[in-house]
Amino acid sequence: MSQDQSDSTIPERAECADASEHAVLRWTEAGESRAARWRSERGVQPPKRVIVADDRITADAAYRLACEGNAILWRGDFQNARQLLQALVRRIDRKRRQPAPSPASPAEQFHLLRQARSQRARTLGMLLLPFEAGHVVPLRRAPDVRQACAEAYGSADSPYVASLRELLGLIGAHEWRKKGIEVPALGARIHPHYGVFAPVRGEYVGLVAKAPLPSKALAFDIGTGTGVLAAVLVRRGVEHVVATDPDSRALACARENLARLGLDNKVEVVQADLFPDGRAPLVVCNPPWVPARPSSPLEHAVYDPESRMLRGFLGGLVAHLEPGGEGWLVLSDIAEHLGLRTRAELLAAFDAAGLQVVDRIDARPTHPRVSDDTDPLHAARAAEVTSLWRLAVR
Ligand SMILES: C[S@@+](CC[C@H](N)C(=O)[O-])C[C@H]1O[C@@H](n2cnc3c(N)ncnc32)[C@H](O)[C@@H]1O
Repeated sequence: MSQDQSDSTIPERAECADASEHAVLRWTEAGESRAARWRSERGVQPPKRVIVADDRITADAAYRLACEGNAILWRGDFQNARQLLQALVRRIDRKRRQPAPSPASPAEQFHLLRQARSQRARTLGMLLLPFEAGHVVPLRRAPDVRQACAEAYGSADSPYVASLRELLGLIGAHEWRKKGIEVPALGARIHPHYGVFAPVRGEYVGLVAKAPLPSKALAFDIGTGTGVLAAVLVRRGVEHVVATDPDSRALACARENLARLGLDNKVEVVQADLFPDGRAPLVVCNPPWVPARPSSPLEHAVYDPESRMLRGFLGGLVAHLEPGGEGWLVLSDIAEHLGLRTRAELLAAFDAAGLQVVDRIDARPTHPRVSDDTDPLHAARAAEVTSLWRLAVR
């Protein structure tokens, strides 16, 4: 049946509570109290009200329930659940297209947009799926998602519940990891893991591929992510790179990419907060470009609260550069266009850290959103420039 039909079936509802070790979702089904582990990589708490539903529920009823904060635990056909999710998307986006009062500043517009996105994610995350041990979805016409789930969640020896939206993200990430992303400046593909910052924008990698190297002996790559910049440096002839990241997914991803490219003998991937021990003649860092609070753990590579990583990098650079060495800071000015940081503040931070600018190499992003004038952040994106700042001890 179509999820857009308007008869509504609203089955049982129940309460949920947190548990000791893992978050637990609790609900009532066929008069019995039920519980299962709750998984959310976005760090969402288990919904407090859960309604069990199947193919008989209409999209309008589901939308109403989700907007009112009720999660819908699906027992119907898997493909119908996908259709239902699309129907919810249409309803939310229809509502969002209604004209909103014009915000006062780009920063306010940016915060309102993030708020709306997070509200949208919350509502769409209300459609839940049951999983059996081993990441099997026990629903009619469910695909085999074992590999996609294992890559993001690790092993699962007991049943759990997660949102359909999260599962679709896991499946997308699994496909991306399998296929990889072509990185022109590297002349190779990089295979991002779930939750790891992917080099989909080639312009910043291109900057690292062309800036003049101060030395080929050693480099540090701070916040390596997929390992893409470490790979570029080695391909350019740098003898040894120490690449750091605190995130264990990034570390595994960087190691796998470097091994795949045959560069793992030249790159040491280490878990560290910012710098490894010692000094290098070249220290490269591409921190998150936007100083804002991540709304989920998956956004840690995109948003840098209070510019913590940027300030940490600048503040520690002098102590980790060899005499005559250079720090390469890769940073877009999108935060400046959004009114979240000024150029004067950035230059003052260089100065306060005892650094001087040797040169700045700029690139214009070419990703499709730059020319999308329906994007609410179009003005900022259209003006954005990504720079590689060559910094030296003053
Ligand atoms: C914008 S991503 C850049 C990834 C990769 N270097 C690239 O250019 O594609 C920022 C990376 O910094 C890492 N990171 C965040 N905080 C860090 C810290 N304190 N020390 C080292 N790396 C950090 C994140 O996990 C993420 O992988």
